[in-house]
Amino acid sequence: MPASGTVRERDMELTFAITGASGTVYARRTLQLLADSGVVETINLIMSGTAATVAQVEMGVNLRNPALHEINDWLGLEPESRLIRYWRLDNLAAKPSSGSYKQAGMMIVPCSMGTLGAIASGAGTNLIHRAADVTLKEGRPLVLVPRETPYNSIHLENMLRLSHAGARILPASPGFYHRPTSIEELVDHLCFRILDQFDIPHSKRTQWTGEEVEG
Ligand SMILES: Cc1cc2nc3c(=O)[nH]c(=O)nc-3n(C[C@H](O)[C@H](O)[C@H](O)COP(=O)(O)O)c2cc1C
Repeated sequence: MPASGTVRERDMELTFAITGASGTVYARRTLQLLADSGVVETINLIMSGTAATVAQVEMGVNLRNPALHEINDWLGLEPESRLIRYWRLDNLAAKPSSGSYKQAGMMIVPCSMGTLGAIASGAGTNLIHRAADVTLKEGRPLVLVPRETPYNSIHLENMLRLSHAGARILPASPGFYHRPTSIEELVDHLCFRILDQFDIPHSKRTQWTGEEVEG
């Protein structure tokens, strides 16, 4: 990946999965930031069935078997935008299911304990599990944004196992040191950190400088 600060083409392709953990808002905002970044050409989007249920509960949106224009509408993209390439969960012949299909990596935002466990066990059954497995075996960045509280020891062991396998665990636990004044700012801070993992540019600084503390 080019060093941060260099001019980059809009040629990055990655896979983005949404699963049935709480936090659909993180998924939407991260996708919007990827769209705005100017460096992402294609996002291979996969959603679990429960992700659609949670999206309905949390955002009142129907994303079950969505048409592309419905996804674009949800994200505030132009109806004819081709940024998102949507794949059905049961399509195990989809491009992200093969390691020979080259891309920058994968994000799972938010990541349920169910999906996390399936990936950690290596016994996945759907396209999200398979794409994550492939991302790990090819040594590409895999960023998981788990959300559950409290964690039991199975969750923690699964996260450790995935970390050892090369995944980056970025829990949905936003910081407060930037003094957020709205939920949007809280959400953004976490989403910026997700983009940071891929060195994808965004509008706000997330790097702690120490200048905030006197003395
Ligand atoms: C409204 C709602 C909120 C949920 N929140 C979480 C959560 O925060 N974390 C989690 O691991 N599971 C959560 N679940 C349960 C998962 O959706 C469930 O375990 C599901 O089987 C996960 O499947 P998936 O990984 O294929 O999406 C939630 C379910 C619902 C309906």
